[in-house]
Amino acid sequence: MRVVLRRVHKSFEQKGQRVQVLSDVNLAVEEGEFICVLGPSGCGKSTLISLIAGLEFPDSGEVFVDSKIVEGPSSDRLVVFQEAALFPWLSVLGNVEFGLKLARVPEKERRERALEAIKMVHLARFVNAHPHELSGGMKQRAALARALVLDPKILLMDEPFAALDAQTRNLLQVELQEIWQRTKKTILFVTHNVREATFLSDRVL
Ligand SMILES: Nc1ncnc2c1ncn2[C@@H]1O[C@H](COP(=O)(O)OP(=O)(O)OP(=O)(O)O)[C@@H](O)[C@H]1O
Ligand SMILES: [Mg+2]
Repeated sequence: MRVVLRRVHKSFEQKGQRVQVLSDVNLAVEEGEFICVLGPSGCGKSTLISLIAGLEFPDSGEVFVDSKIVEGPSSDRLVVFQEAALFPWLSVLGNVEFGLKLARVPEKERRERALEAIKMVHLARFVNAHPHELSGGMKQRAALARALVLDPKILLMDEPFAALDAQTRNLLQVELQEIWQRTKKTILFVTHNVREATFLSDRVL
């Protein structure tokens, strides 16, 4: 899927004042492209992600996905956040299966797809572990599997590795690259780390 933003403006009301966050943003992300969005804290990266995810709407201008205006969230565009936000009472398998359950995917298929996604993020040994038994990196792996299992066309990643140590972060960067090459998903990856941005993608916004 192709993402296009055309003359997008977005502001928020803060303590009675208008804060302009995005002004005349224009961009195109091609299908299958891996693009990084780089910028300092507060510059509007998460806001940009929310607009594409359909969680927020522009004041003016348009956000298109495959030539259709984004009108709300969709399982075609999923967000992976900095904090994994897994359900603490569910195992890794339970967390990854959750979205499929909501979508009423039959149990056998659900199990197969979940296990495949868990394998893709190298968590197979921890399918039955609960979030409190996982390290930060493992939690992010589980969160990634939870998104991948729904087979989104676009993966929106908002500083997913920011809270990890350098070594784990490097490992997950390499693995994400492999997943991208295998699945050919369109990925928008937010970071404020220049090294991460230049390592991960050919084009940095
Ligand atoms: N729902 C909201 N209501 C009011 N203001 C908001 C809202 N969301 C974002 N903002 C403001 O918009 C600006 C940009 O926020 P945003 O979260 O997009 O930045 P960011 O680039 O993701 O920062 P960080 O790197 O710290 O995550 C900030 O000034 C923030 O306070
Ligand atoms: Mg942010």
